[in-house]
Amino acid sequence: MQTAFKFDEHKLNTSTDTVKPYKTQLLKWIGNKQRFAHEIISFFPKEFNTYFEPFLGSGAVLATLAPERGEGSDCFEPLVGIWKALSNEPELLKKWYHERWNELNNGEKKEQYEKIKARYNQQSNAADLLILSRTAYGGVMRFRMRDGYMSTPCGVHKPMHFGTFNRRVDEWHNRTKGTEFFHREYEESLDRAREGDVVYCDPPYTHSQAILYGAQKFSQDDLFHCIEKAKKRGVFVALSLDGSKKSGKEDCPYSFPKSLFKREVTVNCGKSMLRRFQMSGQTLIDEQVKDRLLLTH
Ligand SMILES: C[S@@+](CC[C@H](N)C(=O)[O-])C[C@H]1O[C@@H](n2cnc3c(N)ncnc32)[C@H](O)[C@@H]1O
Repeated sequence: MQTAFKFDEHKLNTSTDTVKPYKTQLLKWIGNKQRFAHEIISFFPKEFNTYFEPFLGSGAVLATLAPERGEGSDCFEPLVGIWKALSNEPELLKKWYHERWNELNNGEKKEQYEKIKARYNQQSNAADLLILSRTAYGGVMRFRMRDGYMSTPCGVHKPMHFGTFNRRVDEWHNRTKGTEFFHREYEESLDRAREGDVVYCDPPYTHSQAILYGAQKFSQDDLFHCIEKAKKRGVFVALSLDGSKKSGKEDCPYSFPKSLFKREVTVNCGKSMLRRFQMSGQTLIDEQVKDRLLLTH
């Protein structure tokens, strides 16, 4: 049986009517949805109660939506440390970046980058992750499955000046002021959502992204089960899936109960950064990536 989506008119609601594209990134993050976030949001209900983003990454959809009330979470602890600092101590976030920007400029950039990377690998922490994300090659952070070791070399680009970063912190702090951040697994976030709430899921693409984002284990089937439970409570869930459904030569079909989603739309995500990195130097033809967006209502 189809559950209708109802929101509580008396609560502090978020409206999607006025959402415009917002392309200013805080972090560089592979697979981020910054350029298409407004497209994704256009498929959300016009009004809803609390917004949940349990696979937060660089928070592109969250910051574009700027909800009245939200919960952003991720299982990658140092990343969540950045979000908590943005929310509770934006001046500390600026300080972290400024100090490390000076460190990078205090010698040969690649050498300095390697020092910061070694420090992060010794003891993972939010402050070093922040500058590494802005400086790593192609914004692609690769992590070893066994121990979370970060291995990406230094990028060719100049990391953003701290003055520009500070302005972004102020903007992002404002856009996320209704949101609380949590270090937790997606299951817990989906469980917290109630009737009239919206959850946007952007999980790692299991076949191509096993080495990214702290290299966590991830099962699509468990996620589908959690979505089913939330839907039964009247939660609206939108799920992004890799539209190409292929990783190298391996086919990755997703199987979920047909009745779980009511609609499927295609969101155009441009060229794939991950492929571009793996194929470095080669020309990209037919690498247009189209994300599937599945909607429970
Ligand atoms: C594809 S990225 C999200 C990108 C995001 N939409 C953006 O625009 O930057 C997936 C995120 O899911 C997180 N993740 C992976 N497994 C998870 C789990 N079991 N629970 C919560 N978060 C998880 C990763 O740390 C990563 O940040």
